[in-house]
Amino acid sequence: MKAKELRKKYIEFFKKKKHKEIKNSSLIPENDPTVLFTTAGMHPLVPFLLGEKHPAGKRLVNLQRCLRTGDIEEVGDDMHLTFFEMFGNWSLGDYWKEDAINFTFEFLTKELKLDKDRLAVSVFMGDKNAPKDEESAKIWKKVGIKRIAYLDKKENWWGPAGKTGPCGPDTEIFYWNSDDKVPEKFDVKNEKWVEIGNNVFMQYNKTSKGKYEELEQKNVDFGGGYERIYSILEGKKSLYECSLLLPIVEKIKELSKLGDEFSIRKVCDHIRAATFLLGDGVVPSNVDQGYVLRRLIRVAIRHGNLLKINKDFTKELAEVVIKINSKDYPNLKEKKKFILDEIEKEEIKFKRTLERGLRRFEKFSKNKKISGKESFLLFQSFGFPLEMTLEMAKEKKVKVAVGGYEKEFNKHQKLSRTATKGKFGSGLADTSEKTTKLHTACHLLHSALQQVFGKNVEQRGSNINHERLRFDFSFDRKLTEEEVVKVEKLVNDTIQKGLEVIREEMSVKEAKKKGAEGVFAHKYGERVFVYSVGSFSKEICSGPHVKNTKDLGKFRIIKQKSVGSGVRRIRAVLE
Ligand code: ALA
Repeated sequence: MKAKELRKKYIEFFKKKKHKEIKNSSLIPENDPTVLFTTAGMHPLVPFLLGEKHPAGKRLVNLQRCLRTGDIEEVGDDMHLTFFEMFGNWSLGDYWKEDAINFTFEFLTKELKLDKDRLAVSVFMGDKNAPKDEESAKIWKKVGIKRIAYLDKKENWWGPAGKTGPCGPDTEIFYWNSDDKVPEKFDVKNEKWVEIGNNVFMQYNKTSKGKYEELEQKNVDFGGGYERIYSILEGKKSLYECSLLLPIVEKIKELSKLGDEFSIRKVCDHIRAATFLLGDGVVPSNVDQGYVLRRLIRVAIRHGNLLKINKDFTKELAEVVIKINSKDYPNLKEKKKFILDEIEKEEIKFKRTLERGLRRFEKFSKNKKISGKESFLLFQSFGFPLEMTLEMAKEKKVKVAVGGYEKEFNKHQKLSRTATKGKFGSGLADTSEKTTKLHTACHLLHSALQQVFGKNVEQRGSNINHERLRFDFSFDRKLTEEEVVKVEKLVNDTIQKGLEVIREEMSVKEAKKKGAEGVFAHKYGERVFVYSVGSFSKEICSGPHVKNTKDLGKFRIIKQKSVGSGVRRIRAVLE
């Protein structure tokens, strides 16, 4: 089978097994304030794994783009990437272990024709929270898998994606990706065994008190590594040699005379991830997703510097990334100009300070220790993300006082650096009253903006926590005082009318016909929920929302600013 047919093969296979294809969501979680990125295919499905009814049914399938900053240290080896695509198939309270394992096995060995004698699996060994998973082991043995390892919670338990939420024991599938003879015994530590997939049996909900409660609905969450399986099908030992990444590597080699494989891989992975983030509308900044994007671009630029690339290069590489992926990701093509402009701007900005910053770093690292003040100065004056300073310090065996950096940072900016505390929970499980209210307020704001400025106002993103809502939309100037008051009044008048909020299930086609907002991201024909607030607003959304607008209180816009060309951000609260 040709690797480039892989995407289609997977979706078709599971459709034959009565799964419905669902959309490949943005890297920025919708309606989820507590996580920065979509890190697994199950992430957008948390409410449904906890028992809410999914409009597409109980068997779902897709390929989901994901970003994991947790793997960033691993980038440079053969098999890790920050941005990757994940195969996903789910049973929401439908089939269980037997079907799940059989489907996985059939897909890998019959459809993809992987040699079953090169496969090994691990299953959960059991602990005080859940028993040894003999059932999975038995099913694997029945289909002819000989190498089975029983491993502990560290290895064979998946989730929750955040602090709380659905989780359970899993069974992972490995492929012997080497020309050496397949060893008799499966040793998970041997890196030639490459993990290619994972069936999670989500039958528990981890509570905020750390308890594992048995879920009424038992789910299966399968995740598989698209780039890994793609590489295996192409007979490659490293992801960077498969045709999804090789053209990027080749371009880097064309630009650099040095062949340092580690730096080449760093540049390749980071620019690829940055391109996808830009494609989902993120712009480089000093907070949240924008900070991660900035960090990826800047670390790539430093490695470009190590490779002695003597010209601006991020734009050229981003173009290669867009070219490889635009068939599957039309958003990359649509946003091509934005992506290239932003990445180039960031490169030009950073290069102004890079050389001087590097010299200052050398000076600071003379006594083998960099203080918090110094690492903060590297960020403040030269734009070195802390993680970049840490990476450089590690190379030089220099210590960095990270605690001191945080102190300085908070002192100076009162902003919290991203990827720190409180930014990892699964917010979809956070259906607190306050966030629910803000979700509904968000719909009202969207509609009010359209009523004041016209239908060309499009939502570009939203983010909600228990304190405020943040709404990004296409608009190219500051709203005047009067306009702010007008929008607030429209929302508050609607709240006071006490309108009912109604949820209806329908196909995207019907939703579109009825003029619902938010259809752009969905597949035609897919079943969705549409929330209507009287005749004021109609939007596709998975919720949650209040029952009546009178529960909302008073709506107030507290801030507005520009977040990149043509996009405005509003922060608002309910008082
Ligand atoms: N959610 C599981 C994973 O990411 C399948 O491995």
